[in-house]
Amino acid sequence: MRPVEITEGVHWVGVLDPQLRVFDIIMKADHGTTYNSYLLTEGEKIAVVDTVKATFYEEFLENVRSIVDPADVSYVIVNHTEPDHSGSLDRFLREAPNAQVVCDRQCRNFVKNILNRDVEPILVQDGDTLDLGKGVVLRFVHAPFLHWPDTMFTYLEKDGILFTCDFLGAHYCDDRLFDDLVDDYSHAFEYYYMVIFRPFKKYVLEALDKVERLNPRIVAPSHGPVLRSNPRAYMDKYRQWSSHPAPDEEKKLLVFYASAYGNTAALAEKIAEGARSEGVRVTVMDVAATELGLMIDRIEAADGIAVGSATINGDAVEPVWYLLSHLATLNLKGKVGAAFGSYGWSGEAPKLIAERLRGLKFKVEEEPLRVNLVPTEGDLEKAVEMGKRLARSLREKGG
Ligand code: FEO
Repeated sequence: MRPVEITEGVHWVGVLDPQLRVFDIIMKADHGTTYNSYLLTEGEKIAVVDTVKATFYEEFLENVRSIVDPADVSYVIVNHTEPDHSGSLDRFLREAPNAQVVCDRQCRNFVKNILNRDVEPILVQDGDTLDLGKGVVLRFVHAPFLHWPDTMFTYLEKDGILFTCDFLGAHYCDDRLFDDLVDDYSHAFEYYYMVIFRPFKKYVLEALDKVERLNPRIVAPSHGPVLRSNPRAYMDKYRQWSSHPAPDEEKKLLVFYASAYGNTAALAEKIAEGARSEGVRVTVMDVAATELGLMIDRIEAADGIAVGSATINGDAVEPVWYLLSHLATLNLKGKVGAAFGSYGWSGEAPKLIAERLRGLKFKVEEEPLRVNLVPTEGDLEKAVEMGKRLARSLREKGG
């Protein structure tokens, strides 16, 4: 696609990737994506904000060349070094030998490791400015962990354009490019937030405090549509999602189970009984019968989880692994975890679940509760006691 003028002297010079269906291995991209790069030519010095994925380098270069000679570019602003934005940096710098890389201090080593040659970037920090001449000034906003340690935003003061790289972006490919021209893509916008930024809510809120003060007229992310209709509405969405769940004094435990013959389910009910007797709010969920998104939302808001599974062929059952494989994008550190399950003759599932919970950064202090076939009265009492201990552990967790 040919360059698109955003405002006078600011062009989109990115590329479309409509065929993409999976991004970064884990993320669906049902509507493809775009890699947005921006060329700023209004000042005496010319700047490029972010590049594109390496496989699209030629098209990106052609877009730049159609407006300026790359040799005339003075700066390449690197807001974020993930390869979908920095993959073309090395080749572009060879084409633009007079360009200096500008990046956040945290980004320096990433840039060096991408280029693998001796390039000394201009390091900027929060509030620093870069004067391009003719009254065109860039202001940098330190925005760490959105979603890498290196991330920053670049604000073109004169035009009120905030370049945010992934922040406020979406995997959504549409050559009409502007949010007021494309179809409703709110589902892609929300999905992108949930997968990429949900683990970093604290940082999202800190960044919003900064950029709301700037009150940008246009937000130009590096994936998906450019936001020019009402950028504040998109920021408000991020604030709303990042403010959830509200602080709650009542401790919450979720007890998940997958049960072949009702024995693991019986343990789940007894764990819940024990935790409730200690004043904790408990919800019991059958993982095979509950919608994944609901379970994820509940886990995010909970203080702890207990996960039970029958053991089949020496392993936990597939619905349990399916749930656990979708938790990596949540901030789980410090939440309490425990595992349990009834088994026929080998009983590996609870231990495997406990290991996975530890890997996800749950605090797992309980020995997995394993019960052979039908729980005895003694086994059920052990489950009640486990629930009580988990409840006390939640209270000790504080907060
Ligand atoms: Fe679009 Fe974090 O890269």
